[in-house]
Amino acid sequence: MTAPKKLHIKTYGCQMNVYDSERMAEAMGAEGYVVTEVPEDADLILLNTCHIREKAAEKVYSDLGRLRPLRDARPDLKIGVAGCVAQAEGAEIMARQPLVDLVVGPQTYHRLPEMMRRVEAGEKALDTEMPPEDKFDHLPRLRTPVAKPSAFLTVQEGCDKFCAFCVVPYTRGAEVSRPPARLLDEARALVDRGVREITLLGQNVNAYHGAGPDGRTWSLADLIGAMGDLEGLARIRFTTSHPNDMTDDLIAAHGEMPKLMPYLHLPVQSGSDRILKAMNRKHTAESYVALIDRLRAARPDLALSGDFIVGFPGETEADFEDTMTLVRRVGYAAAYSFRYSARPGTPAAEKPDVPQDVAVDRLHRLQALLTEQQRAAQDAMVGHETSVLFEKAGRQPGQLIGKSEHLMAVHAEAPDSLLGQVVQVRVTESKTNSLAAKLI
Ligand code: SAH
Ligand code: SF4
Ligand code: F3S
Repeated sequence: MTAPKKLHIKTYGCQMNVYDSERMAEAMGAEGYVVTEVPEDADLILLNTCHIREKAAEKVYSDLGRLRPLRDARPDLKIGVAGCVAQAEGAEIMARQPLVDLVVGPQTYHRLPEMMRRVEAGEKALDTEMPPEDKFDHLPRLRTPVAKPSAFLTVQEGCDKFCAFCVVPYTRGAEVSRPPARLLDEARALVDRGVREITLLGQNVNAYHGAGPDGRTWSLADLIGAMGDLEGLARIRFTTSHPNDMTDDLIAAHGEMPKLMPYLHLPVQSGSDRILKAMNRKHTAESYVALIDRLRAARPDLALSGDFIVGFPGETEADFEDTMTLVRRVGYAAAYSFRYSARPGTPAAEKPDVPQDVAVDRLHRLQALLTEQQRAAQDAMVGHETSVLFEKAGRQPGQLIGKSEHLMAVHAEAPDSLLGQVVQVRVTESKTNSLAAKLI
């Protein structure tokens, strides 16, 4: 018998890429490939890439360059590029880096086995179509054992919003919702294998509208409600949402569905109406804050997180101050902030950039404020009870680490038997990036 072939996948970018990497591993698993964490051992190395900012995209080329010695040592090593850089740059990738044997976009990776057969035969393979068929209908059902009690499940893909700075509508294509019946099957399969928490994923997850088995169109709140009935599933989360798709039933769900965790990632990008308009966000700072008020009325302990872009073309000091004001009004438990990066093909890329030193300075000021708020949110937990889903061993012997309801890292002294369990704890201390707690 020959040894099985080995596949190494490096994942960049968002959680959807994490989910896709698992699906690609399963598609190749059906072809006899086993996953290795060690690139040196691999027969096939796949980079599942992100195009969202220039740095992320350029990283792919420096990582590809670093594979050269491996390929020189083992000429039969195959190298592929998947994900959003693959979609955006296609054949250019092979032209710029001849090491690459295969380029596959996010909507065609169900064809990976067939593409690999061509590569094995000495050809190069490229597929960045946006085919009409649903790749999930052509991928093997979940088989691999789940290592973690918390899993991702892509329910919606693509984006029709076309924010002026963003590549996602081009790299992922139009919005598509997967049917609820398939999703409930997949969720059940995850729960059967020990998963206790599922995070529903979509570039615009709250725009979800799936064709239900009852002939109705299901909203995200409908889907969460049905998932909530799955016995053994303890927690549900969803990400990422757009403010304009935060419907009444979804707001109400935060107060009504006990398995839905009190944490919401709701990007706003800027607090300036002028910049929001230039970004084509189609909401105002005021409407966003009003929405937050409604969410907090439904679920008073809701922890909020957001995304921010500073230095969008035309952003003045006054615009930036509006962002700082919005952040002070909302109070975030966590946040991601980025310096604007001009992306080829997007409308904003045509406009002149804010000087780099100005943008860097604003980013530092915003991050200082957001870090302060994150600390305050953590500190406020001391003395309070929360549930934790223990996911792995902690740094100290006898310790386990997991996530609180508010998605904060929590460690506590706990027996290994509690791994993969949801447990009540009392928070005793707020550390730099985690909470210390005691079992109750
Ligand atoms: N669909 C999600 C996430 C999109 S990408 C949403 O609409 O919120 C994640 C984040 O990357 C965005 O929220 C935005 O803050 C940031 N981002 C996207 N394009 C960017 C760009 N060109 N430059 C800097 N940050 C960007
Ligand atoms: Fe990008 Fe805007 Fe779509 Fe989010 S809503 S993926 S930021 S275009
Ligand atoms: Fe990046 Fe594509 Fe996700 S561009 S953020 S990997 S959708």
